[in-house]
Amino acid sequence: MNNLYQRDCLRLLDFTSLELQNIITLAQKLKQYKKNNKEIQLLKKKNIALIFEKESTRTRCSFEVAAFDQGAHVTYLGPGSTHLGTKESIEDTAKILGRLYDGIQYRGHHHSTIEILAKNSKVPVWNGLTEKFHPTQLLADLLTIKEIFPERKFYEIKCAYVGDAHNNMGNSLLEAASLVGLDLRLVAPKECWPEKNIFKFCKEQMKNKKGNIICTENINEGVKNVDFIYTDVWVSMGESQEVWKKRIELLSSYQVNSLMLKITNNPQVKVLHCLPALHDQKTCTVKSILKKYGFKNGMEITDEVFQKNQKIIFEQAENRLHTIKAILVSSLLKTIKF
Ligand code: CP
Ligand code: NVA
Repeated sequence: MNNLYQRDCLRLLDFTSLELQNIITLAQKLKQYKKNNKEIQLLKKKNIALIFEKESTRTRCSFEVAAFDQGAHVTYLGPGSTHLGTKESIEDTAKILGRLYDGIQYRGHHHSTIEILAKNSKVPVWNGLTEKFHPTQLLADLLTIKEIFPERKFYEIKCAYVGDAHNNMGNSLLEAASLVGLDLRLVAPKECWPEKNIFKFCKEQMKNKKGNIICTENINEGVKNVDFIYTDVWVSMGESQEVWKKRIELLSSYQVNSLMLKITNNPQVKVLHCLPALHDQKTCTVKSILKKYGFKNGMEITDEVFQKNQKIIFEQAENRLHTIKAILVSSLLKTIKF
């Protein structure tokens, strides 16, 4: 039996290192099958609920396309479209959705909500992003890293995450590193470091493993000789727009730009971004920041660096589909037979 059957994915630490790597291997297979037009539909007659309290492009579309590719059906429940937590308790909604659906995806404001959904629904629940964790993003990131360095072990990969590490991405990268053994440096001012308890726990988990995790304010120390620089927006969904001023003050020297790439001392360094990225002046967000604070030439990443790395970044985004498909197949099928 497939031991991920009926399992939730609320955070990466729900899995062992081996399980996580098996999901990545399955995603590689599924990607190949789709590319070769050889995909077999394993999820016929499965129904999936997609709850989104926050906006999304990649996650929603990846869940939908993954489900359709595999013959499953989805119901999209967008912001304000259910009674969840307003006219009905999360527990009651979980109970009814668990009777109607085979699995539930949740993207929302409170990690506590997804924990209640998982506890009460009796079907697998997948975290499509909460303020605390973004596990399905990390699956795509690990697949992308593996595709670039197929021969290397994860612990042989050096990755600097630069910017706001006090968010779902900082936490999830820590969990990923603690499982697969990345050499991960979180490079940010102290105010933007992850919660101490998550860092401590992940550091503890790594004790007998190869790889390492550090937090540093020092850009030179953090990015020296890395294979990857990873960044994310400085203000996450659900945070007040007022936070921008402070974040720009704190993080402007941590912008991923050509100078930072030079500091890595690795001419082959690659840049990852979970997207959406504020790299040019084509978005309302950047236009309004520009007007208010006069900060130009990209926010967390310059347009120059983004364009230079866009092939990898968009491959990383496409990998959301293949890895999410692997999670659906793993948790909805007792045995996986191609
Ligand atoms: N990276 C990511 O989760 O993108 P969306 O917000 O578009 O889903
Ligand atoms: N930290 C970002 C990730 C977006 C994929 C956010 O939560 O908005």
